[in-house]
Amino acid sequence: MTSTYLKRAAIFSFVALMGMGPLVLFTNNVGASSSHAGYQTTRKNSGTPNSTYVKIDSKTGVVIAYGDSAITYNAPSASLDTLGQALFLENCASCHGTEANGVPANGTSGSFPDLVGLGPATIDFWIDSGRMPAADVRAVQAIRHQARLNKNQALAIAAWVNSLDPSYPAIPTPHLKDANVSDGAALFALNCAACHTIEGDGDALASDTFAPSLRDIPAFEVVEAIRTGPANMPRFTGNLSDNQVRDIVAYVTTEIQHPENPGGFGLGGLGPVAEGFVGLLIGVGILILIAYWVGERQ
Ligand code: HEC
Ligand code: HEC
Repeated sequence: MTSTYLKRAAIFSFVALMGMGPLVLFTNNVGASSSHAGYQTTRKNSGTPNSTYVKIDSKTGVVIAYGDSAITYNAPSASLDTLGQALFLENCASCHGTEANGVPANGTSGSFPDLVGLGPATIDFWIDSGRMPAADVRAVQAIRHQARLNKNQALAIAAWVNSLDPSYPAIPTPHLKDANVSDGAALFALNCAACHTIEGDGDALASDTFAPSLRDIPAFEVVEAIRTGPANMPRFTGNLSDNQVRDIVAYVTTEIQHPENPGGFGLGGLGPVAEGFVGLLIGVGILILIAYWVGERQ
């Protein structure tokens, strides 16, 4: 009696596991369908102040700060405008034009992105992550480098570009003290892991592009990436609250950047799909052995 039961259970589990195969394969393709859409990648005004705290400049009527306990956003000081314009003319205008509108002095419009109205966090992200000034204009994707301008210079350029058409998001400062890392892990699995993998090592996407590794990225830049959506990455605005973004950032800057194996076999962090397959192979192997063993007993 028991052996027939075991045998049936073994066969049932085997069929069930095999049925899951396509599902596991499918999850690997999520996100790979987005293609490289020309040069302009960031949407204007990505992310509006959605906060109980909003500070407005009484003279200009422009929002200069917003956000509260989870993340605060500050527009770079207008006193940096003059320095920013000089730095822009020196480092950026050859491609993006003297008005930052994407029309270089002797070039064709449309070859380089229009930066007016993109918001300070977008400008800051591209300079601070070393993507700009561009090293290779023909590259399909600008990649992360050692930054060529310092933090203050990046803020100054962001201030000047923003003065042309004030917009959002402003420069974020995440406050990670009360973050919930396990909520962050769940949100990361849902929103980010399809492209960056659950271990944050990154993966190839369509059209020769890739989602980069998330190791060694400063916390504020993780917020900037989430809120502005650089290149092929979607931007997350209303669908993730500041609390949720803070939790994700805490997961990225603690678990991913300082990984500790929670136990069991490490498998060298192959990623969820590969690890799932190893689990599947071992599990199915054991079930087949059990089925054989049960069979021989009769
Ligand atoms: C040699 C030409 C070149 C220079 C110089 C340059 N850029 Fe760019 N920039 C590009 C190209 C090409 C892209 C598109 C890259 C991509 O999509 O991967 C780009 C993209 C950007 C983006 C993203 C726009 C969007 O729509 O997402 C920002 C922001 C930006 N540049 C800012 C700057 C700033 C600020 C400077 C000066 C510090 C600068 N760039 C200097 C060529 C240049
Ligand atoms: C559809 C795929 C996709 C999804 C989903 C996605 N990203 Fe990205 N991510 C990318 C790509 C592509 C880039 C590189 C952009 C570029 O080339 O400028 C990127 C860049 C980044 C960067 C900058 C890394 C660097 O090298 O400077 C961070 C940080 C980041 N993503 C975090 C996240 C987080 C957190 C989530 C979830 C909330 C997420 N991403 C969701 C595709 C994705």
